[in-house]
Amino acid sequence: MDQFRIIGGRKLKGGVGVSGAKNSALPCLAATLLTTETVTLHNVPYVRDLITMRRLLEDLGARVLVPELRTHRIDARTVENIEAPYELVKTMRASVLALGPLVARFGRARVSLPGGCAIGQRPIDQHLGALEKMGARIELHGGVVAAACDRLRGAEIVFDTVTVTGTENILMAAALARGRTVLVNAACEPEVTDLAELLVKMGARIGGIGTSVLTVDGVDALGGAEHRIIPDRIETGTLAVAAAITGGELEITDCAPQHLEAVIEKLRACGVEIEQTATDRLHVRRRNRLRAQSLTTEVYPGFPTDMQAQYMALMTQAEGEAEIVETIFENRFMHASELQRLGAHLRVAGASVHVSGPAPLTGARIMASDLRASASLVLAGLVAEGETWIERVYHIDRGYEQIEEKLRSAGAEIERVKGGRE
Ligand code: EPU
Repeated sequence: MDQFRIIGGRKLKGGVGVSGAKNSALPCLAATLLTTETVTLHNVPYVRDLITMRRLLEDLGARVLVPELRTHRIDARTVENIEAPYELVKTMRASVLALGPLVARFGRARVSLPGGCAIGQRPIDQHLGALEKMGARIELHGGVVAAACDRLRGAEIVFDTVTVTGTENILMAAALARGRTVLVNAACEPEVTDLAELLVKMGARIGGIGTSVLTVDGVDALGGAEHRIIPDRIETGTLAVAAAITGGELEITDCAPQHLEAVIEKLRACGVEIEQTATDRLHVRRRNRLRAQSLTTEVYPGFPTDMQAQYMALMTQAEGEAEIVETIFENRFMHASELQRLGAHLRVAGASVHVSGPAPLTGARIMASDLRASASLVLAGLVAEGETWIERVYHIDRGYEQIEEKLRSAGAEIERVKGGRE
């Protein structure tokens, strides 16, 4: 398994481009299952999860052409199989996004039930409850969820909890249902909006896009479309923290600053200078000491849980004490003990972590446990004295496109060591 070797202490400087959003590209690829016509997606990030999603589509019988590295042309006319197997679901929970489109188009779908994962239990009861309300019969047998119906019918769905992929699954299902579906307490994350915009291009009738109440008037068929995936706001935020934690300066290009307001506001409060230099550019610089600021993760437009681990790495270098409260997932502090191994002063208490700083970090061997945790360890490695070795970097490859090359191009000393000694 690959590892990263980082020598800390280099201030980042330069320009770095942001890739397309993983969490938008995943549902947009799943949405291509809804139509017999070709859908072309641009700016699809070249990351492991997208390769897995492409495999899933091909397994189901779709033809996926990749005429250029980040363009996918999907023809799902030939889909015959309606089962997302455990082998794929266990490596990527987002495989569950095949459920809504398959049951809407074919009247049946089988998807292995994803188990718990490194950040929490992550049930899919909200996805299943909504499909049942739309007329699907749901059965769970042998770890596989089977959904069947003649044609889904519109319904009023009130989500008990805000769920991103749940909203996306039901939005896709509702697009082909008979009649009107209203989704109340829907997720408003930019990735949900991006999916809704693709669906509209395919002929779906969706109102309330960008709000927590979505109204979908089902149509009999959806058609082909061409769509560009939005920039990855979490990669953007991670790069901003990289500039801030090293006391460096980065021009972050090809990004969507409007999707990052809570992150920008928080970083500014810590003393990071952030300026929007063009509609798709941010200039991030840190010259003064960082000030500790407490934080609570929230659904969009609040501070994203997917930036919590990276922010914790930053707080290890800030003056004072910060309390970081995680409200979205019940077990998303696996990075805390690894940061401690580097010398961070942290105290985990239930759903919060108290960080006091600045703590001088020193390199050590540490282990990545999930995607965002790995990003936080890389950030800490950038300021730790000496050598940091991060094991299991396959986690970071799931969602960051060539992170080590991007950071190296801005002056970081980081290299990938192929097939390390695990
Ligand atoms: N939840 C339920 N029941 C459900 C669905 C969700 O109780 O049926 C709970 C979850 O257990 C969790 C909360 O609701 O406590 C929010 O979960 P959500 O469903 O919103 O998460 P998700 O859709 O599985 C997506 C992203 C995650 C991101 C979360 C929160 C994708 C593919 N994944 O997951 O991204 O953390 O939303 O914003 O879009 C990542 O990229 O590293 C990542 C984990």
